[in-house]
Amino acid sequence: MKLSVALVFAFVLPLIRAQVPHWGPCPEPAVQPTFNLKQFMGRWFEIAKLPAQFERGRCIETNFTLKTDKSIRVVSSEILKGELRKIEGTGVIEDMKNPAKLGISYSYVLPYSPYWILSTDYVNSALVYSCTDVLRLFHVDFAWILGRTRTLPEATIEKAKEIFANNNIDVTRMIASKQQGCEKTL
Ligand SMILES: *[C@@H]1O[C@H](CO)[C@@H](O)[C@H](O)[C@H]1NC(C)=O
Repeated sequence: MKLSVALVFAFVLPLIRAQVPHWGPCPEPAVQPTFNLKQFMGRWFEIAKLPAQFERGRCIETNFTLKTDKSIRVVSSEILKGELRKIEGTGVIEDMKNPAKLGISYSYVLPYSPYWILSTDYVNSALVYSCTDVLRLFHVDFAWILGRTRTLPEATIEKAKEIFANNNIDVTRMIASKQQGCEKTL
């Protein structure tokens, strides 16, 4: 027990510093019904995210490619201090009955973090949520609005925030990601 608590804190404390934890267990939002992993593959740009403090690089995007029918290659990139940085991870559908609930890990030594597709039309935008319970006492969460293009209409972003809020996810601190001047610098 002592060890697992220590591990939880080793992995979760850095997250807590980046985000205000909320009391109580994770909310249980509805996810995309009949999620089609194949259609979700490809390039997604980060339009907005929680938490604001975690925001560092700009031009953040992720490229998903199918490895098997339930496992994917995840390559995320950002520009930080004028340099392109890439990080590669693996995504899986952990339970075929819940295909919209992906798990993503960026290292073999780390467990899969939840990566839930709450809603997507596959061709314009996607709403992603990740939440981790800490000892059932409080939870730390992340939320992203992704776009197939570097910008989305304001109405789409407002609608996305509404969907998060309707699922008891606090997105008042959500901020826009910087997607300007991205082609030029590379
Ligand atoms: C996404 O990854 C696939 C497979 O590795 C690659 O063929 C494709 O060019 C990548 N697309 C982008 C935009 O990086």
